[in-house]
Amino acid sequence: MKILVIGSGGREHAIAWRLAQDEEKHQIFAAPGNAGIASVAKCLDIKADDVPAMVRWAEAEKPDLVVVGPEAPLVIGMTDALNKLGIKVFGPVAAGAKMEGSKRFAKEVMDAAGVPTGKAETFTDAAKAKAALPAYGLPVVIKADGLAAGKGVIVAESVEQAEAAIDDMLVGNKFGAAGAEVLIEEFLHGEECSILAMVDGKDAVLLPSSQDHKRVFDGDKGPNTGGMGAYSPAPVITSDKLPMIKEKIIMPVVNELRKRGIDYRGILYAGLMVNTSESNPHGPLAKSGSEINVVEFNARFGDPETEAVLPRLGGSFAKALLNAASGCLSESDIVIRDCTAATVILASGGYPGSYEKGKVIAGLKADDDKAIVFHCGTKQVSEDIVTAGGRVMSVTGIGGNLREAVDNAYQRIASISFDGMFYRKDIAHRAFERG
Ligand code: AMP
Ligand code: GLY
Repeated sequence: MKILVIGSGGREHAIAWRLAQDEEKHQIFAAPGNAGIASVAKCLDIKADDVPAMVRWAEAEKPDLVVVGPEAPLVIGMTDALNKLGIKVFGPVAAGAKMEGSKRFAKEVMDAAGVPTGKAETFTDAAKAKAALPAYGLPVVIKADGLAAGKGVIVAESVEQAEAAIDDMLVGNKFGAAGAEVLIEEFLHGEECSILAMVDGKDAVLLPSSQDHKRVFDGDKGPNTGGMGAYSPAPVITSDKLPMIKEKIIMPVVNELRKRGIDYRGILYAGLMVNTSESNPHGPLAKSGSEINVVEFNARFGDPETEAVLPRLGGSFAKALLNAASGCLSESDIVIRDCTAATVILASGGYPGSYEKGKVIAGLKADDDKAIVFHCGTKQVSEDIVTAGGRVMSVTGIGGNLREAVDNAYQRIASISFDGMFYRKDIAHRAFERG
């Protein structure tokens, strides 16, 4: 198959790498890719959100499949434009990507579909928003409606903080159009978990559970990031719970979207908050009365969850993606390998704030069956691979159990270095705390 992967991060490296693992050999392209992706794909000088350039390339090259990694191209209609040429795309049309692009739209769909989620209201007027705060208690969550590069969610511990967040978005215009509408949302207690569902418009296959680590420092301290590590499976959602999540959360959304004329083909990523007695009582149950509530939906694979989940998939990955894009997912032969994966992000000093780029990365070596290195923000500069982003690399350890997987990841990291490199040392701590 001739396949184009759109994007340039660790997620896209994992997608391209997993396609290259298929028994059938593919011709893989990436736009724009990075220094690591270049080892498994031909990188094109086209930006991920440059729809006209991507259309020109696709018209000339006629790929069998395009896989869209990041949300930005989905939200602006990359899939719609390529579909018009008759090209199969794994990644929803713009109307479906609104599940991620507009938190208000996602809430409307969830409410209509009866999917459990935090109680929320939307406001465009700061005074009205502030007047609504007392009904939510503390903490309370303030969210920008639109895409804000992961920075549009504030978990406010005090009324002052909540009011400041409302003012930043509605008065100070901090997130531009993305923050012109805000949601006030009930704080959900519990442990988070990510579920990636492959969807073909009318059916879904759930991939194994994983858990992200959003805060920058050990012990879940410091500001939120794009994600500092992940592992799969996450014991907070054991595989026996997946059918229930499919039935109560994923399928109702897929069906509700179809009712609205939206044929959703791609990943539907459910960020869940789990508050069951098995996962330790974290606090009161949500107003929905459900032990599992949706925190957010994304319209794409998670990053770094993908780097932990994809190495666990057997069968033809390309066929599964193509079948989802063609509306016939049930014909795929994806299987889950009986192993555990743990991914640790190597980041640039200063991330998620400002950081320097261009630091030479030393100690890279070939992957083996214990560890795989996915590049996130890297660039080839003559003979060197140098840093080119805040998240630089995802190192995934594979093992028969979680301890082995984590040890394998950290062992591989021990040989890698670049100026300012840091990483979390406690990936998977929640799973270990359960014993
Ligand atoms: P989101 O971009 O909606 O996933 O929010 C980013 C992060 O904020 C989530 O991963 C949670 O850790 C936290 N968060 C968002 N909404 C809530 C909520 N209603 N209750 C508790 N934490 C939340
Ligand atoms: N790791 C969180 C995300 O991909 O949105």
